[in-house]
Amino acid sequence: MASMISVDGLHKAYGSTIAVDDVSFSVEEGEIFGVLGPNGAGKTTTVECIQGLRSVDRGTIRALGFDPTTEAGELRQRIGSQLQDSALPGRLRVAESIELFSAFARNPVDIDQLLSQWRLEEQRDQPFASLSGGQRQRLFIALAFVNSPELVFLDELTQGLDPQARRATWELIREIRYHGTTVVLVTHFMDEAEQLCDRLAVVDRGRLIALDTPQGLVDGLGLSSIVRFSTSESDLSWIERLDVVDSVTREGDSVEVRGSGGVLALVAAELVAHGIVPVDLRVDRPTLEDAFLALTGRAIRS
Ligand SMILES: Nc1ncnc2c1ncn2[C@@H]1O[C@H](COP(=O)(O)OP(=O)(O)O)[C@@H](O)[C@H]1O
Ligand SMILES: [Mg+2]
Repeated sequence: MASMISVDGLHKAYGSTIAVDDVSFSVEEGEIFGVLGPNGAGKTTTVECIQGLRSVDRGTIRALGFDPTTEAGELRQRIGSQLQDSALPGRLRVAESIELFSAFARNPVDIDQLLSQWRLEEQRDQPFASLSGGQRQRLFIALAFVNSPELVFLDELTQGLDPQARRATWELIREIRYHGTTVVLVTHFMDEAEQLCDRLAVVDRGRLIALDTPQGLVDGLGLSSIVRFSTSESDLSWIERLDVVDSVTREGDSVEVRGSGGVLALVAAELVAHGIVPVDLRVDRPTLEDAFLALTGRAIRS
């Protein structure tokens, strides 16, 4: 099966700023593919090149079989692209904006169906300016769907939303995928990437630095888990001798064991074998945030 998108050796500079530096990846049908990285990493430039919205310096791109540098018109009939905020006039009503966008679509969807799918029926006659942040976001997604796209691009969709609206938006994105549409999700939010994406391209300073599932990224770096518990037992040298254990530190009765793989299960089994059953035994597993730090040497939100 051909990929929905393939990018090979993409390079794009603005004057002396290299925004995208030799990036290659492909996106498969039906996945939520994340492009994750800090602000300025080159995420938007990359996805806008794929959509034929920006010119390319070097490299080849195919999206749905089209070359966006020469067939952008054809391609853009088949993809959905989310509008940036404030892109709609405040007085335009919800249903009117959908009608307006449908007028340009080759396979327009039914307006009522779209309003119902994105829970905007009650807002259909409300002007854009009167919508809440969450309602605007739903409208932007709905507008990306007027031409029944096979592939949608969502760029920093949850920027500026409160936690509740963010979670609601995540549900919408899952719904999009459930309906079979392939999603390219651009984000600088770790939790969003971890929760939603099947695979992630991690970009930093224009370069692709990792490409894997969120779990694969974390596991592949062999970062340690930390097992914590309390005990008054003073000799814990038998824990240090376990293969999976890297270090044991303690402060009073509080013990921290760093290790990899099945460290929690092995430490727990050893404790029980030594007659120690701590009620507060727990493990902190490495997160995507830790993986990003390990890959780049800094936190994503600097
Ligand atoms: N139209 C433009 N003109 C000049 N520089 C730009 C333009 N768009 C982006 N840049 C620069 O290119 C780099 C990558 O930007 P961008 O692709 O928007 O990153 P991201 O979406 O990851 O925040 C940044 O240094 C940004 O300032
Ligand atoms: Mg951006």
